[in-house]
Amino acid sequence: MSNDTLTITDNRTGKQYEIPIKDETIKAIDLRQIRVKPDDFGIMTYDPAFTNTASCKSRITFIDGDKGILRYRGYPIDQLAEKSTYLETAYLILHGELPTTDQLKDWTWNVTHHTFIHESIKKFIDGFHHDAHPMGMLIGTVGALSTFYPDAKDIFNAESRRKQVYRLIAKVATIAAFAYRHRMGLPYVYPDNELSFAGNFLNMMFKKTELKYQPSPILEKALEVLFILHADHEQNCSTNAMRSIGSSQVDPYSALAGAAAALYGPLHGGANEAVLKMLNQIKSVDRVPEYIKRVKDGDFRLMGFGHRVYKNYDPRATIIKQTAYEVFEVTGKDELLDVALELERIALSDDYFISRKLYPNVDFYSGIIYKAMDFPVEMFPVLFAIPRTAGWIAQWEEMLLDEDQKIARPRQIYLGSDVRDYVPMVKRT
Ligand code: ACO
Repeated sequence: MSNDTLTITDNRTGKQYEIPIKDETIKAIDLRQIRVKPDDFGIMTYDPAFTNTASCKSRITFIDGDKGILRYRGYPIDQLAEKSTYLETAYLILHGELPTTDQLKDWTWNVTHHTFIHESIKKFIDGFHHDAHPMGMLIGTVGALSTFYPDAKDIFNAESRRKQVYRLIAKVATIAAFAYRHRMGLPYVYPDNELSFAGNFLNMMFKKTELKYQPSPILEKALEVLFILHADHEQNCSTNAMRSIGSSQVDPYSALAGAAAALYGPLHGGANEAVLKMLNQIKSVDRVPEYIKRVKDGDFRLMGFGHRVYKNYDPRATIIKQTAYEVFEVTGKDELLDVALELERIALSDDYFISRKLYPNVDFYSGIIYKAMDFPVEMFPVLFAIPRTAGWIAQWEEMLLDEDQKIARPRQIYLGSDVRDYVPMVKRT
């Protein structure tokens, strides 16, 4: 008898079942054979929020939350943040290997030459209200892209998928910048293909009357680092949405609009926006203890703290903190940094946070950097969505090509009424 099994005794019947264990996991479907009567449905697992359920096999991102490890395709995040660029990292995430010189040249050329958006998409963005949230504009506009590229429906054609990959990675940045310019009432700035991915994004955001926008190399590098850190994070809420929507075999633009919508929420990518609002509310270092007390009293959560997976530290937060100081060399120190540092200091020495393993996450410092770089708060989740596009499409493609996958369809435990007859209106009380 193999040792790689789990023996389960059903005390209702006294029967024993031997369930195979593979990769430290049992298949939920193997539990179905456990039943009292032959016509029973069989045992299911109940796991709201998927806290202990693997929904897929993946070769893209590895996280060890207890040890604070994050790797893309095996490469430690700190090495990529230090040595790579966003486009090279996106290539790695999507293709599984770092590119050769020629591959990177080809990849960069292809992404760069898809940065323009159809003029009608510009008009589509024009239709949004002047104070529309840029994340809402991004979600709506990415969804609208599916109507511009009907060829994207050909999802099992590798060549067609490749084209959508170039388009998506390139165009989300352009749409994001256009959403900002629309809100500000500023003319759109077309992509400058001579600049790097991050440099061009800064150009489309901030160019004014100068003939050629020259990004600050330090801010450009900082943005590259932030983009690398946000490029993928295995099966988080938005990636799960991407895979789940994509499992219906819809085109990637529609699926990605759904993933971006999942990212928008304050418990996910909206957290960096929430962090900044919180720091603005606290305002000064002397008010930090009072704020911490209210968090401990359960009035609200400390935004930018805690993570479902990281229970030691979030390695991205460590890198971001370092990046923050580099950015402040150029922009000057943000007054909210002191509030953030004090909040972190007190929280990390307080038993409430220590016992619950609550540490600063990626969003705790990213907002302060974005603010120092002049990005308005509403753009923060958008800045998250731009690089996460690489992860979303890589995970989508992996899901499509995985023979184990089918349309995502969880089960439920029905606790509602048993069958009953329709009551005519006159007889209802
Ligand atoms: N502030 C105060 N208390 C917290 C916080 C927080 N930020 N996060 C968790 N807790 C407490 C909970 O109240 C709970 O306490 P209890 O056991 O006394 O009831 C305990 O810690 C466990 O919390 P859960 O909600 O079970 O943890 P979960 O893993 O489900 O939540 C999450 C993770 C959503 C990130 C949570 O920590 C949170 O809301 N953080 C603030 C929002 C945030 O920063 N989100 C960004 C996450 S990173 C990202 O998505 C990119």
